[in-house]
Amino acid sequence: MKVVTLITSSNRNGFSKQIVDRLTIGIQDNGGSNEVLFMNDFDIKYCTGCRACENGKGCILEDDFEEIIQKIREADYFIFTAPIFWNDLAGHSKMFLDRLNSIGYNPELTMNEKKCLLMITHYSKNINPFVIENTHRCLVSGSFKVNKILDIGNLMENRVLEDFELEDYEDIGYELEEYEVIPHKLDLESATL
Ligand SMILES: Cc1cc2nc3c(=O)[nH]c(=O)nc-3n(C[C@H](O)[C@H](O)[C@H](O)COP(=O)(O)O)c2cc1C
Repeated sequence: MKVVTLITSSNRNGFSKQIVDRLTIGIQDNGGSNEVLFMNDFDIKYCTGCRACENGKGCILEDDFEEIIQKIREADYFIFTAPIFWNDLAGHSKMFLDRLNSIGYNPELTMNEKKCLLMITHYSKNINPFVIENTHRCLVSGSFKVNKILDIGNLMENRVLEDFELEDYEDIGYELEEYEVIPHKLDLESATL
């Protein structure tokens, strides 16, 4: 299985990256590969809401969004990771999700319901469940099928995670494809439009 991961945290060895490294070991043990992309290596502009994408020809902004999307399209599985800032998804992480609006208007541009893992990291023990549901909703709107959600809290201060904290993620990486698609709780129609 060919996996593409987009880490929207800018920390090169932050919690997201440490956990993704363990997922990668599991993916590789199962014969797959994982291409890890850091969003801040790319030029991603924010969605201006111009709605030109509604003509079905994709986004008119000239930046690296299509390069990332093309890599994801060519993969079998997508991992999206995002940190929590101020009790919500970080703004730059949300910027990527906003741009997904452009891929839903042309069957050739959609993800064909590609399976996806959503990982959210934060210091606090818990975050508002709406943030997870709403991020799930954004990915579903981008025609992804989310089959695993990792809501990872209690990540105080910058540190290297202990082995015992990371060991489960190798198994998750190994089993990625096997998880059932997670039903979405928000009403997409009324919540989106
Ligand atoms: C500006 C800012 C705001 C933050 N706000 C929160 C918050 O409201 N709740 C929380 O639990 N963590 C908060 N954090 C901590 C981040 O969620 C945490 O550093 C990040 O998820 C760690 O992931 P990383 O190591 O992959 O970057 C904040 C961090 C920053 C920089």
